[in-house]
Amino acid sequence: MVLIRLVRQRASSLLLLLGTSAAFACGSVAGNAPVAPRAVVAPVAPAAAAPSDGAPESSCPLETPEQWQQFLERYAGDARWVKTCEDKPCDAGYSRLVRQKIQGVLDRCQSYLAAHPPIALCTSNLRDFVPSFLAQHSEDSYGFTVDNHTYLAAQEAADRPAGMMQPPPGLIAAMPLRVNLEIAARKNGWKYITHDTALGGVRTFVFIPDPEGRFDQWMLLNFVKKDQPAIDPATPMSFIAVQKKDAAGHDLPQVRLHFRDYDLVPSDGGFQLQLFEDRNGKCYSCHPSGVRQLIDRRTQVLEAQPVKGERGYDPSGKTAPPDFAYGRLQELNARLGSYGLPDWEGRIVPAHHGPAIGSALGCTACHDGSLRGVLTVSSSPRQVQHRVHDELVMPPTPGLVSLLERSENRRVKLSPSERSRLEAALQTHEELNRDYDESRLPELRRWLLEQPCR
Ligand code: HEC
Ligand code: HEC
Repeated sequence: MVLIRLVRQRASSLLLLLGTSAAFACGSVAGNAPVAPRAVVAPVAPAAAAPSDGAPESSCPLETPEQWQQFLERYAGDARWVKTCEDKPCDAGYSRLVRQKIQGVLDRCQSYLAAHPPIALCTSNLRDFVPSFLAQHSEDSYGFTVDNHTYLAAQEAADRPAGMMQPPPGLIAAMPLRVNLEIAARKNGWKYITHDTALGGVRTFVFIPDPEGRFDQWMLLNFVKKDQPAIDPATPMSFIAVQKKDAAGHDLPQVRLHFRDYDLVPSDGGFQLQLFEDRNGKCYSCHPSGVRQLIDRRTQVLEAQPVKGERGYDPSGKTAPPDFAYGRLQELNARLGSYGLPDWEGRIVPAHHGPAIGSALGCTACHDGSLRGVLTVSSSPRQVQHRVHDELVMPPTPGLVSLLERSENRRVKLSPSERSRLEAALQTHEELNRDYDESRLPELRRWLLEQPCR
């Protein structure tokens, strides 16, 4: 029996007993600094949320267009806007400052802004951006526009397909050894792959479609080192349900994604899953287009075998058709690629995360919000570096990935001309990545100051 408990923030003293560190979700693998365990306290109403109803107009400290312009300019170029925290602790001090000095002023000036449309206009980008920034830098949320309690509860509301958020008990019972997880997956007919991850280390990805086609479940289990036999209990099991139909079985025009991090809690020689409401993996930071593609090349670890119901299924797991794992990788990536961009249901408003970054570098030809999600200052720079430089997949260039793949394979030698092409590509892509990174702050600043105050 698997116990999945929803632990309310207030009640999670258990968290302290276990000393579980607030691990970084899906992004917790790559040598990220662990966060010290911290007391879980009842949420304090943020200053930003203080309603200004009835506040006298005079409490707005800014009155002239010049003052507003100075206000914008004082804050628009702050480098701390573009520091992300999907793989390191957030800068709580800066969030506090933003809440007090910026959001606080905007709140106090609500009626002033209502009465002064030109000022409302010149501050509108800042007013959109600040709440998104604060959510994306919150220490106890996934960064969506609603708090985790609301976000997680809505995934199980009556209008959602029943069972969508429940990982299968058979998978959890098989934890923590990778070998047993794979046996369980094969026996149950769940397609899986154990593969290098774009975060460092290795992951087992498991894909389970709903028999009625209402949703697909994706989960991943983390092995920090490639040869690690057991999952790493300090990192959660990350889970995405891709919802395709509503509870009544009608097709949705666009898929909806439901993100969750399940903590692994030791129990009876194995693990139980628990859902803590204060987890803070910043899913959108690394998932700007919804689901991600798995690394599309034969990396050092790439293992999968046929599962029950498939040709070549071998319960002992000893034999598999040649190159089966690579075919599985292609199949899973095709499935991940088939969903299109998600309907964020207002939980993410990409336009509120700032301008699209990378237009001068050609990124916005695809990352335009309709072919692919826009990249913004909220997008993980480390993930950009990974796709652009480490993996050489962005922008897509025919032939580069296979050069990289062959250079990693000890049995294959690149010819001198191939080697120099690879080295040149690594150099160009390093520069591309640097240009992208260095453009983030100026792009944001320009956008925040787009409309002069008059
Ligand atoms: C630091 C970056 C990062 C963060 C933060 C992150 N992910 Fe991911 N995630 C990835 C990458 C990269 C992949 C693609 C597979 C790989 O390379 O590991 C991925 C893949 C996944 C998958 C497999 C399906 C797919 O989209 O490929 C699931 C499930 C998942 N993430 C869940 C989550 C959840 C839930 C959160 C937030 C609580 C989250 N992730 C936050 C980087 C991240
Ligand atoms: C020709 C279209 C195209 C161009 C140009 C392009 N991308 Fe992509 N990008 C894609 C596709 C398709 C994916 C999904 C495949 C993958 O993740 O490897 C993707 C994925 C990504 C991801 C992973 C997040 C996501 O959206 O799933 C990052 C980060 C990224 N691209 C960065 C960049 C950067 C930076 C540039 C510009 C230097 C760029 N891309 C240019 C098509 C493009």
